[in-house]
Amino acid sequence: MPLFQQKFGQPEIIVKSPGRINLIGEHTDYNLGFVMPAAIDLAVYIAMNRREDNELHWYAADLNQFYQGRKDQLVPDERGWPNYWLGAIQQLEKAGYTIGGFNAVLRGDLPVGAGLSSSAALTCGILFALNKVFDFQISTLQLIQMARATENEFIGLQCGIMDQFASMMGKSDEVILLDCRSLDYNYFPFHFPEMELILLDTGVKHSLAATAYNRRREECWAGVEQIKKVYPEVQSLRDATVKMVQEIIPPDTDIYLRCLYVVQENERVLQAAAQLKANNYIDFGKNMFATHFGLSNQYEVSCEEADFLVDLARESGKVAGARMMGGGFGGCVLVLIDKSIKTEWILSAKEKYLQKYNLLLLDYTVRIGEGTSSLHYN
Ligand code: GLA
Repeated sequence: MPLFQQKFGQPEIIVKSPGRINLIGEHTDYNLGFVMPAAIDLAVYIAMNRREDNELHWYAADLNQFYQGRKDQLVPDERGWPNYWLGAIQQLEKAGYTIGGFNAVLRGDLPVGAGLSSSAALTCGILFALNKVFDFQISTLQLIQMARATENEFIGLQCGIMDQFASMMGKSDEVILLDCRSLDYNYFPFHFPEMELILLDTGVKHSLAATAYNRRREECWAGVEQIKKVYPEVQSLRDATVKMVQEIIPPDTDIYLRCLYVVQENERVLQAAAQLKANNYIDFGKNMFATHFGLSNQYEVSCEEADFLVDLARESGKVAGARMMGGGFGGCVLVLIDKSIKTEWILSAKEKYLQKYNLLLLDYTVRIGEGTSSLHYN
């Protein structure tokens, strides 16, 4: 990064830390269920070197904003982005790792707030870089857990572990089937030569998304409390069945809808893994539509614009699968589509979106890429 050299001299490390997609398994991670994410080739880049003093000098190039502070004063910053750095340092200190002062430059091509986990990419990148530069020898799994704890404790989002795991552990052309209870994982090749994954960015960002997200989590755990009274072996929704939910939770409640969705979604992830193995993208795509139905009508985290795009996909009869992706309340819709009709279909979706919402629909073709890594290290 020439920019880094201008400001801070020679970098000791340059890290690339990717965003993620999630093929299926939404809102299952914090319920200790299954997810199927993959890292993508859109990423944040961090260049870093150590300082002689205890100061922290960071520059967010895309925002043209500087942060200057001291490592013994980790005070939240209203601009948002420095908090991921501060929270990550706090996690390192909590675990007994002492950093010194350092300089850093941050930039990226990963859209922020589009549901592609730019925050997990950033936090994983920061921890990965600090681990190398200060030679802490922290394991990858521990870095993933620290990245998640940064979100939970400093940022205040009670997220699960999926985004951080995918960002750190991604592999080119492979998706990860992760068991969020045991943290066992398998890689699966995602290989449908005639198909492509695309992301359509609704351009919608809901300001109350974090509050609504945390509330969903509480509703799920309230459901577990009810089920546990009759089935004490149920420690999370991962252990529950559709029958238990139907038998115990009153059907006219939000808690019922949330729990039913999560239990069914866990089943869909396992089916999807079998479908991937069998190269059956038709049924895989049907499950994506089913997930969207659940997210929209049972979990209630979709938005009108995402529903509109998924309806367009379904009604066209040509698209294999589509669904909103990530936490919800805006962000991207993931579409599995035949390469031969892709350009034409995207064009018509863009026209219809513009007509209906007066919004430009951005699209990205997804390439499944490697997890967090150093591009340069000395
Ligand atoms: C966000 C969270 C993840 C996960 C998804 C929903 O991306 O950070 O932990 O819960 O939402 O699947």
